[in-house]
Amino acid sequence: MRVISVKDPQEMSEQAARLIMDRLRQKPKLVLGLATGGTPEGTYQKLIENHRTEGMSYRQVTTFNLDEYVGIPKMHPNNYFYYMKHRLFDHIDLPPEKAYLPNGEAEDLQTECARYEHLLKKAGGIDVQLLGIGVNGHIGFNEPGTSFESLTHVVELDESTRKANARFFSSIEEVPHQAITMGIQTIMCAREIVLLAAGEAKAEAMTRLLSGSVTEQFPASVLNHHPHVTVIADEAALKRTGNR
Ligand code: GLP
Repeated sequence: MRVISVKDPQEMSEQAARLIMDRLRQKPKLVLGLATGGTPEGTYQKLIENHRTEGMSYRQVTTFNLDEYVGIPKMHPNNYFYYMKHRLFDHIDLPPEKAYLPNGEAEDLQTECARYEHLLKKAGGIDVQLLGIGVNGHIGFNEPGTSFESLTHVVELDESTRKANARFFSSIEEVPHQAITMGIQTIMCAREIVLLAAGEAKAEAMTRLLSGSVTEQFPASVLNHHPHVTVIADEAALKRTGNR
């Protein structure tokens, strides 16, 4: 696992955007795995800026998001499709039909999970997957205890995750109890993974991740078994590790 230590969230976003754009230059038909949450917002801004100033094109790109809440309508500000549309998709030339997210409003959620896996396979798998990390080590919405063999599935969200994400809702009661997420095995199939972390709230998670011990009780630890992972983290997130 390569660790890039940066000063602050701004630098983290710049480095992440640069890495994605490098890969895009090498492979214009890139299949890009995307994440939501507060952490990647700056990276998306940088990609938009570059699209505007340098004309970096996403016309041939396909994107797959990691996860989606169950039961939040597409036009609701906390829906992840809504998030992606407003923070990235509407501002670049990615064809809308090539931007995939799990459908959290599907009538049959199990069928939806299988459909998502099928779409991923059909696209040839993910070239670069962007990841954030939960305070409890979740990746996507794979909570502690999730099998490393898991594919896209429906999850019950941890109370700690609902609490952490309540900041985006008007109250914790509004935070859904379920989500659809790519599984750990789905994520591990990506050819390259870029994990972003910023802020002191992630310091403990980073210590556990970089300790190298691998356990299903700390989902992100599985990344220690992936051959091509880059962690881009700021000083605050790395403060308790030897990587500052
Ligand atoms: C959320 C998302 C994850 C994200 C993580 C961290 O619940 N489902 O994909 O990486 O938690 O979020 P943040 O970047 O806001 O700290």
